[in-house]
Amino acid sequence: MCGIVGCVGSDDTGRIVHQGLENLEYRGYDSAGIALTGETLTLAKTAGQVDELTAPRSADATAGIGHTRWSTHGEPTETNAHPHTDCTGEVAVVHNGIIENYDALKTELSEQHVFRSETDTEVIPHLVEEQLADDVSLLSAVQRATQRLDGSYAIAATAAGHDGIVVAREDSPLLIGHGDDATFIGSDATAFVEHTDRVTYLESGDIAHLTADDVTIYNGGESVDRPTDTLDWDAEAAGKSGYEHYMLKEIHEQPRALRQTISGRIDDLAIDVDLDVDLPTEYLQSVEEVQIVACGTSYHAGLYAKELLETYAGVRVTVHIASEYEFNGERDPWRTLVLAITQSGETADTLSALREAAGAGARTLALTNTLGSTVTREADDTIFIRAGPEIGVAATKTFVSQVATATLLTVHLGQVRGTLSSQATTEFLESLRDLPGAVQQVLDREPTIERAAETYADSEAFFYIGRRTGYPVALESALKLKEISYDHAEGFAAGELKHGPLALVTPETPVIAILTDGTAAEKTVHNVKEVESRGAPVVGVTSEPTLTTDVDTVFEIPACGPLEPVVANVVLQLFAYHVANEKGRSIDKPRNLAKSVTVE
Ligand code: M6R
Repeated sequence: MCGIVGCVGSDDTGRIVHQGLENLEYRGYDSAGIALTGETLTLAKTAGQVDELTAPRSADATAGIGHTRWSTHGEPTETNAHPHTDCTGEVAVVHNGIIENYDALKTELSEQHVFRSETDTEVIPHLVEEQLADDVSLLSAVQRATQRLDGSYAIAATAAGHDGIVVAREDSPLLIGHGDDATFIGSDATAFVEHTDRVTYLESGDIAHLTADDVTIYNGGESVDRPTDTLDWDAEAAGKSGYEHYMLKEIHEQPRALRQTISGRIDDLAIDVDLDVDLPTEYLQSVEEVQIVACGTSYHAGLYAKELLETYAGVRVTVHIASEYEFNGERDPWRTLVLAITQSGETADTLSALREAAGAGARTLALTNTLGSTVTREADDTIFIRAGPEIGVAATKTFVSQVATATLLTVHLGQVRGTLSSQATTEFLESLRDLPGAVQQVLDREPTIERAAETYADSEAFFYIGRRTGYPVALESALKLKEISYDHAEGFAAGELKHGPLALVTPETPVIAILTDGTAAEKTVHNVKEVESRGAPVVGVTSEPTLTTDVDTVFEIPACGPLEPVVANVVLQLFAYHVANEKGRSIDKPRNLAKSVTVE
């Protein structure tokens, strides 16, 4: 949510920062701005998207910071766009996160300072201005200013006549990129990935000063060393590779993403999995409940994981929308494993649930896509889903990789707890190995799915139904369609239709039924009849054509065992994509949304 980029040490700073903002637009895209500093400060802002922002030019610029915004405080206007400046127009600050005490600070500062925007951020440049008036360095000024702030933030500040950029992190992610000739900052590595793959992740409480020749990091007033890591993906992986949208590219990357997810984790000889995670066997045997905390698509992956874990690993599982989570005081924290599923590793609601669980004494495990993200630092253990960078706001390949990773975890737990027979293990592992190929077969039939999407694109609403693992797929497929097409779409447990939602069903509302293996499809067929008799067109997704003899449109998919619903999900990702594309929607940047939601 909101993107930050910065650069020191280049004589092409304006262009580099502008390019970084283009890379980061998926984090927020309702306004943007850039500040360059040398002897003077040059500022450019827009109330629109980054391509409406002209990169500023400045002959003496040695440092630059930029920001693309997803508004929280104040509308997306040019005045509210970052960078924000002080009264002198010499200090510029960009910020992600929320300053909780900004109201009190604004009231206090308003006696001496003129505020222009409605943002919480604007208190920061004024606080820095106050400190600079004491003739201290920019580093000390930012250090002192942050001592006044409550809340979460990633900040980058620069000032005319001061060397470099000062950055500070409290909860919101921020990292440094080490290029050969220049140094970069970013709210994630896509900000500067075409310049370097060497990165340092800042920790909460860190303040760093970046100049052309040096990076120094402090925490609690002491200088600290932070390791430099190498990214395992590059600029090409983060680009569109000729696809019209990132979402489409990411849908097509799923066979590869799935292969990466399972690569090296299945031991064929021992018929076992190796998740490279240090969860002691005795602990896993003693776990009484797994509590899954997640939001949005990751929550749907959690519902899928619950079906697998309860059925095959013999453990009670509760799945919680992270923003609603409270640790149940009746549970024994020592026997409760809290699993946070989050592709970004930065979702504030999920992190807050994780902290609540850790505070109650439960062991925490993260399932994430993002190396170095906050969740990896805060959870006791982490399993990476290895899907590769996902730029489109609509999660696609991370969902399938989350489910595949949860399947590996199910096999591991089921074996350790002695609940999974060797036959079931073999079935699961086969399903995992077959999954990339089955997904590829679906991708190869994209033109058929596109034609069906064109047929149904003008419908009044879309309803998705499924049972067992088909239910989370129904929810996820509905979410995909609504977020990118802006059409009304809802997922239901198939049996629930007749308890209310059936009233919504008309000949103008297609019902999409998940009729795959492992989803009690023979029962869902009865619900298909219910909607057909109300005149609704039906779309069936199945590997068993006999189940769909009467339906209007059939998407036939390859049989793929317990993971067949994931293959159905891929069909419905493409369906959602083509409905939205038919309507000319902004697919990679749907209105009002952002990729990474770092506020509660
Ligand atoms: O990064 P996370 O997995 O924690 O994100 C959670 C949700 O915001 C996210 O899954 C969201 O629902 C999807 N981008 C929607 O496609």
